[in-house]
Amino acid sequence: MALPTLKTSATTEELSLLHKRLRDIGYNEANIAQLLGRFDISELNGKEYPSYIWRCDRDTSELAKAVALFLLGRASDRPRVTELLGADLVSVLERCGILVEFRGAMVSLPVVFPCLDKLFFTDQWVGTGNQEPGKVYELGTDSYALARVTPRRNVEKALDLCTGSGLHAIFSAAAGAKSQAVDINPRALHYTEFNALLNGVEVQNHLGDLYNSVKGQTFDLITANPPFVPSPDPNVLIHRSAGETGEEVPEKLVAGLSKHLEPGGLFSMILDHPMYEGETYLERLERWLGADKGWGIATLTFHELTPANYIMGHLSGVETYDETFRNYLESYLRLGIKSMRFANVFIRRLQDANAPNWKVDQRCNWPNISLVPQVEEWLDCQATYRDPQWRPDPDWTPNLSPNYKCLWRDWTHSRGVLEMADDNWLQPEPLNEQEAELLFQMKPGTRSISELQQSWDDEHAFLQALRGLGIRRALTPFSPRKD
Ligand SMILES: C[S@@+](CC[C@H](N)C(=O)[O-])C[C@H]1O[C@@H](n2cnc3c(N)ncnc32)[C@H](O)[C@@H]1O
Repeated sequence: MALPTLKTSATTEELSLLHKRLRDIGYNEANIAQLLGRFDISELNGKEYPSYIWRCDRDTSELAKAVALFLLGRASDRPRVTELLGADLVSVLERCGILVEFRGAMVSLPVVFPCLDKLFFTDQWVGTGNQEPGKVYELGTDSYALARVTPRRNVEKALDLCTGSGLHAIFSAAAGAKSQAVDINPRALHYTEFNALLNGVEVQNHLGDLYNSVKGQTFDLITANPPFVPSPDPNVLIHRSAGETGEEVPEKLVAGLSKHLEPGGLFSMILDHPMYEGETYLERLERWLGADKGWGIATLTFHELTPANYIMGHLSGVETYDETFRNYLESYLRLGIKSMRFANVFIRRLQDANAPNWKVDQRCNWPNISLVPQVEEWLDCQATYRDPQWRPDPDWTPNLSPNYKCLWRDWTHSRGVLEMADDNWLQPEPLNEQEAELLFQMKPGTRSISELQQSWDDEHAFLQALRGLGIRRALTPFSPRKD
């Protein structure tokens, strides 16, 4: 089927009928995941398509009908679609080229993904392996992850590179930023324009290659979900192709930050990245930045796969599966790829351009909800407690943060473990002897810094232990920095 052309022939007010109707019938991430038997909507898998259809067919709810129509590409007849959506909304969606009728059957040409409190149209997500060039990327696991972990506090100027359906640019605009979006695929920009209209925000679109169309401009927030799959085949789809290592586009994105990120600004990029012997990923990011001063580099790692497992997940629908699999595997082994990690990269431009770089990798459970408050606090803690100029207020009375339930120590008190509170997704590292001791001494949050420090001969060791607890989000109260 030819790819659809969405027409911006309706107003935001008319399109709000779609928001209202879908909200009323519970068309959201959690309900859809439950209906389709998944942990998260972002994990929709073409191989499970028959199971999704089966689940919708045996369910009589309006949600099941809407999911069949708007997410699974199922046809229905006009009376049923009108009963589900109402005649006014059907007419609006027909005018926009979304609903079409063919020989008595009505279908939605694009699909609709809910994400946080917004809706996004994309091309159909069910892959056959031979997808049309120019297809606009669906909301995948990567799209949802980036949306769920990117803080947007105090952002005035935002740029979304590799925008696809435009969701990250639209979230920035909704947070009050002047928002710009770039994609190399003109169809993606049509979707971005339509989705901005649908969600009642303004986004300035540029057709182009990465930073080329925003030369000379700087931003408080730069987001990107770039192509990243290491692909020996140069003919793979545009939303995936980033060369044999998968790093051609990510490297250019990072290298461009010195020209385009404001001091205090944040870069947030989701990707799968290869792991090699001899250089950590944080070191590679630092190398691409080209400076050992003025940057905070943080990765939030969700999971890690062997090359074979990773390749398997990216070749669904390929006709010559065995041969293609072998080609990919040979290429990965030749390049020395040991494993593939799924992670979000955060790079903060420090206010002090001469401060030494800091680098941190944090393990995180895979989120099926927004983790923005947790990530915001984590990044604030890194920026604060890793700043060499930081000194604690002597009157501050720190306590164990509610992120954690309790501190466990081993018999010899040589290390400690923090037990997470139930809503904590970010996995804590073990504490060293001094950190565990300091936390124990704080109990139950009644001693000020000057009192605590009296029992420490070594001021440097005290400060290091305090910083160590701070960067793990283990201290409260915490006042974030303004930058
Ligand atoms: C994985 S999709 C991500 C889409 C969307 N941002 C999301 O999170 O769902 C990657 C997008 O990058 C675009 N792209 C690929 N190479 C590009 C380049 N050199 N400059 C700008 N966009 C590019 C593709 O057209 C595609 O829309």
